[in-house]
Amino acid sequence: MDKLRIEGGQQLKGEVDISGSKNAALPMMTATLLSEESSTLYGLPELADVKTLGKVLNHLGVASEHEAEKIVFSPKNINTVEATYDLVRKMRASVLVLGPLLARFGRARVSLPGGCAIGARPIDLHLKGFKAFGAEITLEHGYVDAKASAGGLKGAHVVLDFPSVGATENLLMAATLAKGESCLENVAREPEIIHLANALKSMGAHIEGIGTGILKIQGVDSLAGFKGAVPADRIETGTFIAAAAMTGSKIQLNHVLPDELDAVIDRFEAVGCQFEALNSEKSHTGKVLMVQGPEELNPVDIRTSPFPGYPTDMQAQMMACMCLAKGTSIFHETIFENRFMHVMELDRMGARIRVDGNQAVVRGVPYLSGAPVMATDLRASASLVVAALAAKGVTDVLRIYHLDRGYVRLEEKLKKLNARIERLDQE
Ligand code: UD1
Repeated sequence: MDKLRIEGGQQLKGEVDISGSKNAALPMMTATLLSEESSTLYGLPELADVKTLGKVLNHLGVASEHEAEKIVFSPKNINTVEATYDLVRKMRASVLVLGPLLARFGRARVSLPGGCAIGARPIDLHLKGFKAFGAEITLEHGYVDAKASAGGLKGAHVVLDFPSVGATENLLMAATLAKGESCLENVAREPEIIHLANALKSMGAHIEGIGTGILKIQGVDSLAGFKGAVPADRIETGTFIAAAAMTGSKIQLNHVLPDELDAVIDRFEAVGCQFEALNSEKSHTGKVLMVQGPEELNPVDIRTSPFPGYPTDMQAQMMACMCLAKGTSIFHETIFENRFMHVMELDRMGARIRVDGNQAVVRGVPYLSGAPVMATDLRASASLVVAALAAKGVTDVLRIYHLDRGYVRLEEKLKKLNARIERLDQE
């Protein structure tokens, strides 16, 4: 197991290339199951989660061929519709095979993912939607067994109780091959849904309302393969913005989609950051975003909410910044019930944070001091790296397999930006 050793206090400078988005890549990968033709994805990020989902697809019988910048998925010879516990427990997003398998084969058996560090994370909304499409759902032995009625899934009107990202993706994929019209209401509007819907359209799906809270889908008999590029990761971009803010540095981020970051940029502007988005040859897929961190961080209040609100996946990194703000900031986490796991570790570095239910009050301190720290989830780990970049002395961030799930070679990118950081064996 590896750890990151970071010596804080270095000014960052230079430029960094933002990688493809994990959360956009995963549903695009499972969408390939909807067709018997091959699909090609360009710019898949080299992340543990992408590899894990690749293994799930291979287990189902999808052949995948890696060539330079692209991976070709060939789902012609699917030989099982079962995703086992061994595969699913490593990554919750594996449940995104349910919708496509059920829609194309009328049957899917997928291990229930279970809770994770940030909350219980049930999949009841996914299952309620499949039932509305006429599927019979049985929960037994830790598995979801879903069977479509004779003749396949039937289009339906589904109103989600909450705009869940995963449920929207699963139901949208299922609806593309369901008989007749489906209307999905109160769906998530995250950019990843738009990227998925566009990929599905290029496969021949009929979808209206992309980017809104209501999706109307006219089912088709079959879909073609697609070719698509994975868009830039908005959360990786936001994490580098936090690093610039925390260290008062000016850095250049390449291949950014700033329109997906309005709420994040707005809050970091309130913190005191300055931004400039430029068209540049350096960034053929997106824009170049210049970020200048402030000399002194202003406190800001954060309330996480579904897109276009402030993303829960950027809550921890902003909290790290607020540890050094000139004043008090208040965080409301409204998406996940247990997403303050970074607080204890930030406190060990000298932060002053008090948690009460889903609210955290952060009182800015003059400095943080390096310490051995570890986190239990991906974005919490990222917040510790951000904190360590500005802390006095050396911080060891342990258990970085969480980081490797969602950040492509984070230490190499930060090193290129002048940070003193190295990956070591945790022993
Ligand atoms: C996705 C993202 C994750 C992000 C989250 C919220 C991926 C791979 N992951 O996760 O990084 O933090 O969106 O933006 O894209 N819920 C239910 N029942 C359900 C489904 C969800 O109660 O059937 C609850 C969850 O427990 C959670 C909330 O709804 O409290 C949001 O979950 P959801 O939007 O589904 O998140 P994910 O798709 O799992």
